[in-house]
Amino acid sequence: MIVQADSLVKKYGGAAAVDGVSFSIEKGQIFGLLGPNGAGKTTTISILSTYLKPTAGEATIDGLSVRRQAGKVREIIGFVPQEIALYPTLTALQNLKFYGKMYGLGGAGLERRCREVLELVELWQRRHDNIEQFSGGMKRRINLGAGLLHSPRFLLLDEPTVGVDPQSREHIFDTIFKIRDNGATILYTSHYMEEVELLCDHIAIMDRGKVIASGTLRELLKMLGEGGVIELEVAPPGCPSGLETEIASQQGVTGVRREDNKVFVSSSNSARSLPPVMKVLESAGCEVGSLELYAPSLEKLFIQLTGKELRE
Ligand SMILES: Nc1ncnc2c1ncn2[C@@H]1O[C@H](COP(=O)(O)OP(=O)(O)OP(=O)(O)O)[C@@H](O)[C@H]1O
Ligand SMILES: [Mg+2]
Repeated sequence: MIVQADSLVKKYGGAAAVDGVSFSIEKGQIFGLLGPNGAGKTTTISILSTYLKPTAGEATIDGLSVRRQAGKVREIIGFVPQEIALYPTLTALQNLKFYGKMYGLGGAGLERRCREVLELVELWQRRHDNIEQFSGGMKRRINLGAGLLHSPRFLLLDEPTVGVDPQSREHIFDTIFKIRDNGATILYTSHYMEEVELLCDHIAIMDRGKVIASGTLRELLKMLGEGGVIELEVAPPGCPSGLETEIASQQGVTGVRREDNKVFVSSSNSARSLPPVMKVLESAGCEVGSLELYAPSLEKLFIQLTGKELRE
């Protein structure tokens, strides 16, 4: 384990922005923190990068405590903040040199790393242009590059694709995979589920300061039912409660949940489970008003867990 977070808490006044968050990240993983606005992603990532002291709890990076060994932690991590932090009137190269010096680089080593990083984010040709002349996506790529200059072992990225065009997003994803292939471990926060589905080996879903589900994409989707979900709306007076057990015993059904006049049936094969489930409802005199079959997705899982949409 390169990263271990244990019961992290951050309180502002009485309110907890982070409320007992624990997880561990294995070396070489791309670990995703997924959650809506205000979930506590930035607060968590700021604690791990030592920029914010937790109210309680502890985290270690490669065995170093973020509380007691912040200086040492900073040497081995790269932090790319959610807000772009570049000087608009300086060129891309000047910005990177500035950051490189902050990380203690200098001389030929600094020159070489600036070139390598600019090539990695594919903006070497634009190195002499001022940042203010760059598109939002290009700025994001330079922002990412600034966090890579000292070849960090652990990279923390806070929503690095917000407001970028699809092409720049592709570039950023490519860069992230390259960094991982070179042996780094990455923590990636996002509120785009497609991004974490595509990028991350392990995903922790956050809401209101807490991790509400965690696992590989496959493990998380399994929580919904591997073959998807059948959502049925039953006409009033709704589905009698006794029927749940009968529905649960039908072929392929792995879970049943009722909510008002809706019935959610998780299944290992929803196409196969549908006819027997309909039969059970019909013989009980329930009239099915509408029906939806959907494949498991993180969005649906989030709704299932919290009762609200991931994107507000
Ligand atoms: N400095 C602060 N003072 C008071 N409250 C704060 C502060 N920073 C964050 N919060 C609160 O903590 C909660 C979590 O915020 P945080 O920025 O960690 O969320 P987030 O998941 O990164 O959201 P977003 O997706 O919008 O970036 C929010 O309710 C926010 O208002
Ligand atoms: Mg944030």
